[in-house]
Amino acid sequence: MAFTIVGTGSALPKRKVTNDDLSEFLDTSDEWISTRTGIKTRYVCTDESLDDLAAEASEHALADAGIEVKDIDLIICSTTSGDHLMPAEACAIAERLGASCPAFDVSAACAGFVFALDTADGWFCRGRARRALVVSAEKMSRLLDWEDRSTCVLFGDGAAAAVVEAGGKSPIWSHLVTKPDVASLDVPGLQGTSPFGSTEDAQPSKLLMKGRKIFHFAVSSIEEELKALEGESGIALSDIDHFVFHQANERILDAVAKRCGIDPSKMAHTIQETGNISSACIPLALDRMSREGSLHAGELVLICGFGAGLDIGTTLIRWNKEQDA
Ligand code: COA
Repeated sequence: MAFTIVGTGSALPKRKVTNDDLSEFLDTSDEWISTRTGIKTRYVCTDESLDDLAAEASEHALADAGIEVKDIDLIICSTTSGDHLMPAEACAIAERLGASCPAFDVSAACAGFVFALDTADGWFCRGRARRALVVSAEKMSRLLDWEDRSTCVLFGDGAAAAVVEAGGKSPIWSHLVTKPDVASLDVPGLQGTSPFGSTEDAQPSKLLMKGRKIFHFAVSSIEEELKALEGESGIALSDIDHFVFHQANERILDAVAKRCGIDPSKMAHTIQETGNISSACIPLALDRMSREGSLHAGELVLICGFGAGLDIGTTLIRWNKEQDA
């Protein structure tokens, strides 16, 4: 089976937070954050809910595709930071849009968009859907320990969506991997108030990360995946037009460009502005590139998400959407 991305959309909170804003309440600096991560700003929700952002991104994607919500057969949302533990964020999106198709979430952290796209492709394969809305929506600000300078400076909030249709020329190559390791990047679940539970060893639901370990996992895993892609698909990295990697750290992108011989100008770079918005990074970059007119029909686009799990998902697609302009 195959799929085509026929529309994209995104939405960010209105509050832009600079590194200097963070240094007002944290022992950090623009110099440290910029040189260690490449991040200059990120957007953080104030009065917006994640439901608001996810619905807005979805509406933009539907409008871009020229498709009405009644023509969508499936809604998949990738998130680890939804407004509701139950129901799925996708159900809230369906309610906002007035959709009546099946809607559920996929939890694969920063690789979530790639895993959700693959799930949609599975529904197409089984003939269960012809059109899917794949949304990645993250309110990372609710998961952060705002006193931990080594993590809270890295992340931001936002949502992005893609309308995906059955048929076409993608994926050309796809690979999903999990290298199980919970402790390296973990947000412990809610403790609850069960009278039968034990509160010993209870940890707050705040993000804990072994930054260096994740850095090395990211660089080495991306290199492994790109080698596998070249070996199995017969397509050289030099023939790929755009590389849209998850935006976790500019230095990860630099290391990958160097190790794999990728021209950095072919790589999406949104991290400076948005920070790490987990699974929303990749569809947001695709939406930006599409709207700026830098993606052209027929071009090869590599998307690769990696993060907690430790999950990594890589897909090579052929962009098939003509520019409207
Ligand atoms: N401002 C100032 N100093 C900071 C700081 C901040 N925001 N955060 C950490 N530091 C300090 C540390 O306390 C440490 O000080 P010390 O040497 O006195 O102990 C020093 O900077 C170096 O810390 P370290 O953690 O070794 O830095 P690093 O070069 O590994 O960079 C990360 C840290 C988190 C930026 C980097 O490891 C990283 O990006 N990892 C990947 C994380 C990631 O991508 N996660 C999401 C995956 S989806």
